[in-house]
Amino acid sequence: MPLRRRLLALVALVLAFCLIAGGALTYWHGLRKVDLEMSSAIDVGSSAVSDALSTIGSSADAPAQVHRLISSFDGDRHLSVRLISPNGKVTSASRLPPPSDPPPRWLYWLLSGSPRTRLFDMPGELKQFGTIAIAADSHNEVGEVWEDLKLKFTIIGSFCFVVLALIYASLGRALRPLEQLSSALDRVGQGDYTAHVPEDGPQDLKLIYRAFNRMAGQLQESEQQNQRLNEQLSTVQEEERSEIARDLHDEIGPFLFAADVDAQAIPLLLSRGAADEAVDRSKAIRQSVQHMQVHLRGVLSRLRPALLIDQGLTHAVENLVAFWKARRPQIEFRMDIEDARYPSAIEDTAFRILQEGTSNAVRHGQPASVGLAARRTDEGMLRVVVTDDGSGITAKGTRGFGLPGMRERVASLDGRLSIADREEGKGVMLIVEIPLPASTGSAARQEPLSESAA
Ligand SMILES: Nc1ncnc2c1ncn2[C@@H]1O[C@H](COP(=O)(O)OP(=O)(O)O)[C@@H](O)[C@H]1O
Ligand SMILES: [Mg+2]
Repeated sequence: MPLRRRLLALVALVLAFCLIAGGALTYWHGLRKVDLEMSSAIDVGSSAVSDALSTIGSSADAPAQVHRLISSFDGDRHLSVRLISPNGKVTSASRLPPPSDPPPRWLYWLLSGSPRTRLFDMPGELKQFGTIAIAADSHNEVGEVWEDLKLKFTIIGSFCFVVLALIYASLGRALRPLEQLSSALDRVGQGDYTAHVPEDGPQDLKLIYRAFNRMAGQLQESEQQNQRLNEQLSTVQEEERSEIARDLHDEIGPFLFAADVDAQAIPLLLSRGAADEAVDRSKAIRQSVQHMQVHLRGVLSRLRPALLIDQGLTHAVENLVAFWKARRPQIEFRMDIEDARYPSAIEDTAFRILQEGTSNAVRHGQPASVGLAARRTDEGMLRVVVTDDGSGITAKGTRGFGLPGMRERVASLDGRLSIADREEGKGVMLIVEIPLPASTGSAARQEPLSESAA
């Protein structure tokens, strides 16, 4: 059930309870009032009748006086007085005025109580007139209660109606901003992060709107970044693949061709009796195979660096440097890698930083020298630094995949990454610091390796 209707139902319930309680109180009050009025009316009537009867007995026009006594009660709203002859016939009766607003039967039944009647026998000489009966009649009194009840319920009913209408209207106004928020949340749920709510209204709601807008903004930014990363990831993978294909083609292809030529020549040489030359050719085939093995290992280690890191960070970085030296012999590579072991997640991240940092330096900076360092600091951190003396990051530099990826890796280990763009044209210094657990530094790798693609 919507909040608005639920609140209204609650208020209506409370009002209905008040109405019922008020009704019960009014009923109890009416019952007492009718009872009190009737008994005092009958007392007053009785004393009037007995006073009158005591004087009538001795006077001459006694019959006329008895009738006057009866008619003196004409118009009394609570008493009906009758003269009943000894044979049971009503010979005279007072006139009871009808109530101006007759009460419904059920109310009369509820309030009238038990009938009250008093009988007065005539004194000695008036005995032939019979008996005077005084009966209390509560119709008029109940009629008064009925009028009172109608007035009260009209006032209370109108009050309830006005209260409910006011609550309905003000709830509608108060809940409208929440409806806006709910439809904005709905849009976010469906992936539309441009949803925005105006930051106005009561202070409490303003805070919620502000938090919502901030959340939607961040989701939008993350989505855009994700999209960008996905696009770049496929470009980077494409680049990597074509580089590996080029490597296989350039490094393995010629040696395969040479081995094939040598292998074809050997039977010819042997048939001509040139055994020494055949031996030379077979040596050449072995050299080609060895060369291919070295290159194949290089390609594999790029595809699966985890295998390399398993033998230690120093070993992995040596391989990395060897890879780049083979391709960029003009660049001087300096290594300062502490020979120690760290938890596998830290070693993997450190290697990836060195790998990407070196790759960036070589690919983007055209440096004369590149430095790779990884050492434990006095503060218990592993400090990884890649420096180069190349062009530095130019303003035109593109937003790539490597740096954000490095940041994410470092952040997941609670570390920090900073890039000091050295003076114009003097290269880049990439510094990463990763907190080490207190007990690191043993010679063995501490966790099983997780394999990951290069
Ligand atoms: N050592 C560096 N020297 C010069 N430019 C760099 C260096 N490192 C990063 N850059 C610049 O920063 C950009 C972003 O780097 P990165 O996020 O690794 O992406 P990518 O290498 O895929 O282009 C690079 O395109 C390059 O312009
Ligand atoms: Mg890069």
